[in-house]
Amino acid sequence: MKNKRKVLKKVLKNKSVLLGVSGSVASYKAVDLIRRLREEGLSVTVVMTEAAGNFITRLSLEVASQNRVCTDLFSNPMAHITLPANADIFIVAPATANIIGKFANGIADDILSTCFLSFKGKVAIAPAMSWRIYENPFFQDNLKALLSRGVVQIGPDKGSLACGEEGMGKMADIATIVERIKSMLTKKDLQDEKVLVTAGPTREFIDPVRFISNRSSGKMGYSLAQAAFRRGAEVTLISGHSTLDRPDGVKFISVETSNDMLDAVNKEIESSTVFIMSAAVSDFMPLEMSEEKIEKSGELFLRLKQTPDIVSEVSKKRKRPFIIGFAAETGKHTERARRKLKEKNMDMIVFNDVTEPGSGFDADTNKVIIIDEEKETELPLLPKDSVADAILARMIEIRA
Ligand SMILES: Cc1cc2nc3c(=O)[nH]c(=O)nc-3n(C[C@H](O)[C@H](O)[C@H](O)COP(=O)(O)O)c2cc1C
Repeated sequence: MKNKRKVLKKVLKNKSVLLGVSGSVASYKAVDLIRRLREEGLSVTVVMTEAAGNFITRLSLEVASQNRVCTDLFSNPMAHITLPANADIFIVAPATANIIGKFANGIADDILSTCFLSFKGKVAIAPAMSWRIYENPFFQDNLKALLSRGVVQIGPDKGSLACGEEGMGKMADIATIVERIKSMLTKKDLQDEKVLVTAGPTREFIDPVRFISNRSSGKMGYSLAQAAFRRGAEVTLISGHSTLDRPDGVKFISVETSNDMLDAVNKEIESSTVFIMSAAVSDFMPLEMSEEKIEKSGELFLRLKQTPDIVSEVSKKRKRPFIIGFAAETGKHTERARRKLKEKNMDMIVFNDVTEPGSGFDADTNKVIIIDEEKETELPLLPKDSVADAILARMIEIRA
């Protein structure tokens, strides 16, 4: 029980973010950013510039953060010391050209720039501005000066800007900013690992337009790839068809069929220390694929054969990585998962009953039992991100 609690402890719980908001058309996005950070279990305190007050009210930021917002250096005499001293990370989003210039030159003439100078931890900035300003060499020099001192830059992206023009300067997506903050706050306990993850369904073609597949969305594998990267691993994700965004910082290989997936795994496996087979390979493929679209007429009989067993191929290798497999069952057949663990010579298997509420295909949550030689760890229904972290935590425990 104690162990279970340790595994589930939210990585980011009790961590606090000091969020600086400067005066940009993107300032209103800070509300959404605060909401998403709080959903991750982080507490957020906001410091805003006077210019930011032209774009967003202090009240909105107070309501979103459920904390008092500091706007002025002199009406809160100790805030520029106490707020940075109590924060685990300092992020400025959006960061204007002006505030970046002040940071780079050690200017401390308002609450935000003074907090920056007194902060001792990791700082990230999410610039937002017109492409004309972004490309300006004075601005670029200031940006480079900050980066050379270890400040982390998140974005900006290329896109259509508030001025009506297209170019580089759009603030990074909120999801990207949140992911980078999570990564900066995460202990790098997989730093020396090369993790290979497979995800999503495979497609086994009947003819050029039809295929056999399954309902896998890829969410579990994508969460695992992202979580491993966040913990410092070098990650490669081999994915069947999925509509999900590619995880940040991960080498991505797109495949369609189980044979494509096997080829890609064989190419990558030699250099991998951990292999996570979370893809839902279609277990069967047509005996042969028709070169032409099969005409619709009467009944059609398909003869199927088994697709390659990717996990077994990997576990047979002389120099094999740590192997984590998945067993999706309809019913609580943990004994089948245990058998699979042994037969396929895996190190861990993650069992889930896809008929359980919130645990099926395409769900954002999963209820799993992590099975290894030593024990079974049953987790409650959790977001797939948390499941991914629990799986990696157990792997680290086993290998320690
Ligand atoms: C409508 C409008 C939009 C602006 N948007 C931006 C912006 O996106 N990025 C930026 O660097 N400056 C922008 N500015 C200029 C800043 O608000 C200005 O440089 C201000 O002094 C920044 O102050 P601060 O850095 O203390 O918040 C904008 C100004 C106006 C009037």
